[in-house]
Amino acid sequence: MASIRAVVVFVLSLASAGCANTGSEELSRWPLIQQQKQTLTADIQSGVKFYLITAAQPGGARVELDKDALLAEGFNASRSSVVIVHGYGHDIQSDLFEKLAGAYLLNNYTVNILGVDWGELCPKPAYITARRRVAAVGARVADLLDLLVSSGLSTPARLHLIGHSLGAHVVGNAAKRTHVARVTGEQSLVRSNTLANQTKS
Ligand SMILES: *[C@@H]1O[C@H](CO)[C@@H](O)[C@H](O)[C@H]1NC(C)=O
Ligand SMILES: *[C@@H]1O[C@H](CO)[C@@H](O)[C@H](O)[C@H]1NC(C)=O
Ligand SMILES: *[C@@H]1O[C@H](CO)[C@@H](O)[C@H](O)[C@H]1NC(C)=O
Repeated sequence: MASIRAVVVFVLSLASAGCANTGSEELSRWPLIQQQKQTLTADIQSGVKFYLITAAQPGGARVELDKDALLAEGFNASRSSVVIVHGYGHDIQSDLFEKLAGAYLLNNYTVNILGVDWGELCPKPAYITARRRVAAVGARVADLLDLLVSSGLSTPARLHLIGHSLGAHVVGNAAKRTHVARVTGEQSLVRSNTLANQTKS
């Protein structure tokens, strides 16, 4: 499969960031997952939820991994897509989506914004359990990327992945399965506008 460009964001300054510190040292310890598809357990399949975040529905509209469902909620196949994954102890209600998706929406950037909610699988205070699920959740996110590409809704070059805290490890795993071309570390959500600028085309 062709390469998918990933942007990994570390939003360490986010007040609600929790205790999941991800430095570059830990980044280098991302487990390499197998390149072929993993068979995911039912709790991973049902515990990872996808949302399309639009100006009309800034809180996100839940979507299944289905081309028609995405189009029905306003996915635009002519545009690039940004996939945002939250960190430990959060869910789709996280400030991350409001701030980061908000930066895209406020500037009227012509991108599709997809939010990944894996909150059921990473509740506090079970950090170790959440950490163990990162590879499988990443594989589920890779399922989303595969669907977007195989259904013609996107291309690898038009997909951008953004992960906060443990979410950075999730997108790292997703990107590894799909041969990621680029990984960028970001320190602060203050840069969310810059980041939005980088990925708006
Ligand atoms: C889809 O996106 C393209 C490019 O931004 C735009 O020209 C077009 O109007 C959009 N289509 C809809 C239905 O919004
Ligand atoms: C985005 O679009 C809205 C509605 O059309 C407009 O009011 C606003 O000024 C636009 N924002 C920017 C940054 O262009
Ligand atoms: C984003 O891009 C717009 C123009 O495309 C520019 O005016 C703005 O300053 C940029 N913002 C940041 C934070 O780089």
